[in-house]
Amino acid sequence: MKNAIEVNELTKRFGKITAVDHISFEVNRGEIFGFLGPNGAGKTTTIRMLSGLSRPSGGKASILGLNINSEITGIKKHIGVVPEVSNLYDELSARDNLVFMAQLYGVPSKERSKRAEELLKTFRLHERKDDLFRTFSRGMKRALTIAAALIHNPEILFLDEPTVGLDVVAACSLRNLIRNLHQQGITIFLTTHYLEEADLLCDRVAILVKGRILAIDTPETLKVKTNKKSLEEVFIKITGLEPTVMVIEKGK
Ligand SMILES: Nc1ncnc2c1ncn2[C@@H]1O[C@H](COP(=O)(O)OP(=O)(O)OP(=O)(O)O)[C@@H](O)[C@H]1O
Ligand SMILES: [Mg+2]
Repeated sequence: MKNAIEVNELTKRFGKITAVDHISFEVNRGEIFGFLGPNGAGKTTTIRMLSGLSRPSGGKASILGLNINSEITGIKKHIGVVPEVSNLYDELSARDNLVFMAQLYGVPSKERSKRAEELLKTFRLHERKDDLFRTFSRGMKRALTIAAALIHNPEILFLDEPTVGLDVVAACSLRNLIRNLHQQGITIFLTTHYLEEADLLCDRVAILVKGRILAIDTPETLKVKTNKKSLEEVFIKITGLEPTVMVIEKGK
């Protein structure tokens, strides 16, 4: 069986800046893969290339065996993307946002309402389904944005910094949600700069700095290899960066 994601020497340049610099990795089916790195490391740029929103300057990548340069329409059926900033509409209700997304993703019209209702229940937003998106709390907005990305039952979910800006309780409930999706067999590619979160959630992690991958492995193996107790200490050892550079809140 093919890997969920295969990336080979993928590169993105913006003028003189090389945002993503010849990265190569694989994501196995069903795993939670964490992409860790400080601000500006190239995490979002990588997700944008893998989901067809940005064209690579070089290298290759495939999703479920489909080429990101030539088969993106096919790929979009199998992936859900939760961007850093929500892509939902402030002036639509929670339910209408989901139904609209269902339409965009080609869910048959008869199934749209049912699927929206199901997701509202799973994400515990059913009671607020008729409220406008703009009236939601940050955590509720994040949850609905994830629900929307799952409307077409994708096999792979990309989550770009899912817990940034959430309080401890909301972040914890979102992590549980991510674990549930994992248990359902969904492959999860998530970016984060919270090392503890990555340690709690991820089967494997890649450490990205200035567009380059410095290490890839399970959190446990990285700890053993570097003789460190936490992923934070591993990160400091591997990158030479202090973790303070990892936790700049972006207020999103
Ligand atoms: N559209 C663009 N035009 C020019 N430069 C860009 C563009 N998008 C990203 N970059 C640059 O690419 C680099 C990587 O940015 P990217 O957004 O991928 O980082 P990131 O790891 O997601 O960071 P953060 O943790 O802050 O979200 C940065 O130097 C950024 O300025
Ligand atoms: Mg980013």
